[in-house]
Amino acid sequence: MDVLPQLPPDTAPLEHQVAGHFYGRSKTKFGLLQRCSTGDVLKPLLNPPRGPREHQFYDNIFSDKISGEIVKLRPFLPKLLGTYQFDGMTYLILENIIQSYEYPCAIDIKLGRVTYDCEATPEKIERQIAKFEPAAEIGFQLLGWKTYRQLDNSYIYHDKKCARSLTKDDLLYGMAHFFGAPEYDHRPIVRAVLERLVALEQIMAKQYEFVFIASSLLIVYDGKNRENDNIKVDVRLVDFAHVFPSSSNTEPDENFLFGLRHCINYLKMLIDDKFQYISIDKLDHTTNLSTSTCYKTLLK
Ligand SMILES: Nc1ncnc2c1ncn2[C@@H]1O[C@H](COP(=O)(O)OP(=O)(O)OP(=O)(O)O)[C@@H](O)[C@H]1O
Ligand SMILES: [Mg+2]
Repeated sequence: MDVLPQLPPDTAPLEHQVAGHFYGRSKTKFGLLQRCSTGDVLKPLLNPPRGPREHQFYDNIFSDKISGEIVKLRPFLPKLLGTYQFDGMTYLILENIIQSYEYPCAIDIKLGRVTYDCEATPEKIERQIAKFEPAAEIGFQLLGWKTYRQLDNSYIYHDKKCARSLTKDDLLYGMAHFFGAPEYDHRPIVRAVLERLVALEQIMAKQYEFVFIASSLLIVYDGKNRENDNIKVDVRLVDFAHVFPSSSNTEPDENFLFGLRHCINYLKMLIDDKFQYISIDKLDHTTNLSTSTCYKTLLK
C-alpha cells in the first residue's frame, strides 16, 4: 500500500477543492492542504522547475518593485502569505478564497488553446492535446466543479474526467448546471461573474509582461444566496506553474485572452433570454455513485 506524506501539524486536505493534486490521490500523493486554525491554503511546490516557478511569479506580483498594468492583477490572485517547510517539502501559503462562503460552489476553468510550454517534450504535447481536443478551438476547458442545491441540501461534484467527456456544445449546459440550472435561475450569478471576467480581460489585454500557460480561473459563488441583493461571487486566477516572462514585451498574451474571451462568450450565451437548459446524461451521476469520482452528497 502507498504511504501517504505526513500531514504537517494543524493541517488537513483542502476542503472544497475541485481540481488539481488532491492529497492522497495524486501520483506523488502530495496535494493542497489547509491550516485548520486559519483556513489558509498550503500548496506543495512539486516537480521543479514548476513549483519554484509558481513561487517566483507570486513573489514578483506582490513585490514592491513591480509597477504598471500588472499591479492591477493583484486583486485577481489569492494573496501570497508566505512559505512553509515541513518534512522536506516547501509549501506556498495562500489566501483561501473559498473560506468565507457558507455554501461555496466552485469551478476550475483552465485557459488557453495551448496548455503546454516550450519546455514540453513531443509526448507531453501529444498528451496535453488529447486530454480535451476542443480546447484548441475554444481555448478553455473545465477541470471540475462542485455546486450546492438548496432544494435537497446537497452538493454535486463533477471531476475532470467527466468534464472532459463533454463536447464543446455540452459545455454550455455543464456551465449552466454549475451556476444552478435547471432548479434555479442561473442568470443573476452569471451576470455578477461576467462583470469580474470583463474587468480581468481589460487588464490582461494591457499587460505585456507575462504569458500564462495552463493557468485556471477559479470561480466561486454562494449557493444559498441567489437573490440579486445578496449575491456573493469571486473570480481569481490560480496555478502559475507555467507562467513565463513574455519574450516580446510588446504584445498581450493572446493564447490566454482567446480562452478568456471565449469563456466570456459562453457566459453571455447563458444569460441570453433564448437560452434553454438541456440536461446532459454524462452529468447524471446520482444513480452510479460507487464507480465514479463524481458524486452527490446529502448534507445533514
Ligand atoms: N487560494 C485558494 N483558495 C481556495 N481554493 C484553492 C486555492 N488555490 C487552489 N485552490 C483549489 O485547488 C485546486 C487546484 O489548485 P492549483 O491548480 O493551484 O493546484 P494544482 O493543479 O494541483 O497545481 P499544479 O498544476 O501547479 O501542480 C483548484 O482547482 C481549487 O479548487
Ligand atoms: Mg491546476
